[in-house]
Amino acid sequence: MITKRYHFESIDSTNKKARELATEGAIHGTLITADAQIAGIGRRGRSWSSERGTGIYMSMVLRPEIETDKASMLTLVAAMAVEKAIQKVCNESAATNENRIEPMIKWPNDIVINKKKISGILTELALHGTEIDFVVLGIGINVNNKTFPDEISQTASSICVEYGRDMDKEMLITEVWKQFAVYYERFLQTKDLSLFKEDYEKVLVNKEETVKVLDPLGEYIGIAKGITNTGELIVDTEGDVRYVSSGEVSVRGIYGYV
Ligand code: BTN
Repeated sequence: MITKRYHFESIDSTNKKARELATEGAIHGTLITADAQIAGIGRRGRSWSSERGTGIYMSMVLRPEIETDKASMLTLVAAMAVEKAIQKVCNESAATNENRIEPMIKWPNDIVINKKKISGILTELALHGTEIDFVVLGIGINVNNKTFPDEISQTASSICVEYGRDMDKEMLITEVWKQFAVYYERFLQTKDLSLFKEDYEKVLVNKEETVKVLDPLGEYIGIAKGITNTGELIVDTEGDVRYVSSGEVSVRGIYGYV
């Protein structure tokens, strides 16, 4: 999957760098990693805390031959890959069953452990006319962080805090892209998520849980039932089934983040 890699000790944002390199012609599979970001970008205009050395900050340039409206599914493909990679790297080295951790996905693409966010994904799309020029897939993973800024301390955690020991970041980076290659291939076969929808739903932390959908047209509450083949969250609001698209709204638990 990784065709070329650029590593920076410190950078503003690996997503920004990936966009610049892609605009200059970087090929599919170009990976940008950094030890620290001074202006890490999160979803919905938020920032992404990117302390030096503790987390993984990386972005990949993709040039998928798919229709524009299918690009949002890549973010769920990536979530699946990150979940599987964490699961594999941590649990294969777990000394006992008690050390095992259970990473899960908060729809559409946050990875949580014990209901706390440990990874976020930011997908950015660049068009050439009506076609996809490139996609930048940015992944942040809290790996060996021990403390968190006040504003996220209630909802964020790291693999180290939840698992109880430091993890090798390089090993995890390699595994994420190995897993991504597997799920990306399956995605390309059908141009949707049907080949691993069940795998995704098995680790969907919201499944059968009550969720609050923060729709700008009006919030509502319902039970999350799973996802469609194209990645919408299926929410049952007492008889009325709604399909939630990730671009438009966010979803919370009724008592907090999950
Ligand atoms: C989110 O808000 O959940 C998405 C966070 C994405 C953060 C990653 S860190 C690597 C890449 N570079 C950025 O500036 N953002 C993404």
